[in-house]
Amino acid sequence: MIIVADIFEKVLKNMGSIGQFSKEAHGYFAFPKLTGEIAPHMTFRGKTVLNWSLNNYLGLANHPEVRKIDGESAVKYGLATPMGARMMSGNSDQHELLEAQLAEFVGKEDSILLNFGYQGVLSIIDAMLDRKDVVVYDEQCHACIIDGLRLHIGKRFVYKHNDIESCEKQLQRATKLAGETGGGILVITEGVFGMSGVVGCLKEIVALKEKYNFRLLVDDAHGFGTMGKTGAGAGEHTNSQDGIDLYFSTFAKSMASIGAFVATSKEICNYLRYNLRSQIFAKSLPMPLVEGALVRLNLLKTQPQLRENLWKIVNALQSGFKERGFNIGITQSPVTPVFMQGGVGEATQMVVDLRENYGIFCSVVTYPVVPKGVIILRIIPTAMHTLEDVERTLNAFSAVAPKLKAGEYEDFVPQMA
Ligand SMILES: Cc1ncc(COP(=O)(O)O)c(C=O)c1O
Repeated sequence: MIIVADIFEKVLKNMGSIGQFSKEAHGYFAFPKLTGEIAPHMTFRGKTVLNWSLNNYLGLANHPEVRKIDGESAVKYGLATPMGARMMSGNSDQHELLEAQLAEFVGKEDSILLNFGYQGVLSIIDAMLDRKDVVVYDEQCHACIIDGLRLHIGKRFVYKHNDIESCEKQLQRATKLAGETGGGILVITEGVFGMSGVVGCLKEIVALKEKYNFRLLVDDAHGFGTMGKTGAGAGEHTNSQDGIDLYFSTFAKSMASIGAFVATSKEICNYLRYNLRSQIFAKSLPMPLVEGALVRLNLLKTQPQLRENLWKIVNALQSGFKERGFNIGITQSPVTPVFMQGGVGEATQMVVDLRENYGIFCSVVTYPVVPKGVIILRIIPTAMHTLEDVERTLNAFSAVAPKLKAGEYEDFVPQMA
């Protein structure tokens, strides 16, 4: 009899790069439960914590108008309406209105709603490319782009993070190859990189269109609502929106909801509408999410004070960290990474100290996501935080950093609730 491995046994032997820590991490570092209204102050394991880990940039999650429409629309339509995929039976005036308003806001001819950003990006990449086409992409692109590229059977060239010379080199290789295959080139980057807060070198990439023939897809999940004069994102901020051929963002961050969209020309939207497998073969976005998104978009456009509040907090936090000698990298956006040095064990103990003894909740990133010895405490400011929250957080960081340096977390005994 031929021996065949058991797939269950195989996966249980190798739980994956993060899963291998599940026993120690579960419920505390991974899958923590924050309860209460989405706000800077929430409850974690029975204690109130000052929370810096949610992408509720503009504070829309709990805006009274948002809560009102979410509730009213759910009562009116339920979560089933409209039933079916958009193409079959799930289209509505509200879906089309939202697409038109999103497109207008980001300066494109049209847009298409996506049920989730992750699946949407996968599907855009899949729909736009065939085996002859070549992709050039930033090495720090989000997992949805990397996973979308797994569907691409043609060639791909990766360039050094936000390095325009490296990007051009790869464009030269891609141009040569595409010349041979008869395919085209798609460059993919992000508007704001979610880990580092760095703004993608969009203007420089767009300028390369003078020399090379390619289309540009930008994932602006963190830039939409936070960057640019009107909040239209990193393309507006860098004055390069016209050069972005496919502008993508999710509703999961500034819009504080679920769903996403891609905005582009009318003709390409029409092509995507009939070829985007994540939408053709999946149920339409429920009406409460669509009506909720219309209200959120209106607030995003008409309440610039939300973005001003966000930036007041961002500036106080980032300049405070710098003044106190912390390394926050070269962020140009609200995403605030605090870089420290230490092992995984020390990092986790420091986070326990921060949560249990200082009441500060933020996410921690360690090896294997970043190189060994690097610790990133990732802080996401929102329009709802206050200057007192900032001061308290800076003081807490000033208290734990010397302990980390002195090696105190090597044998620190956590005082968990
Ligand atoms: C850069 C980026 N792209 C795409 C996504 C996926 O969006 P969604 O949560 O709507 O699936 C995320 C995370 O939300 C993200 O950070």
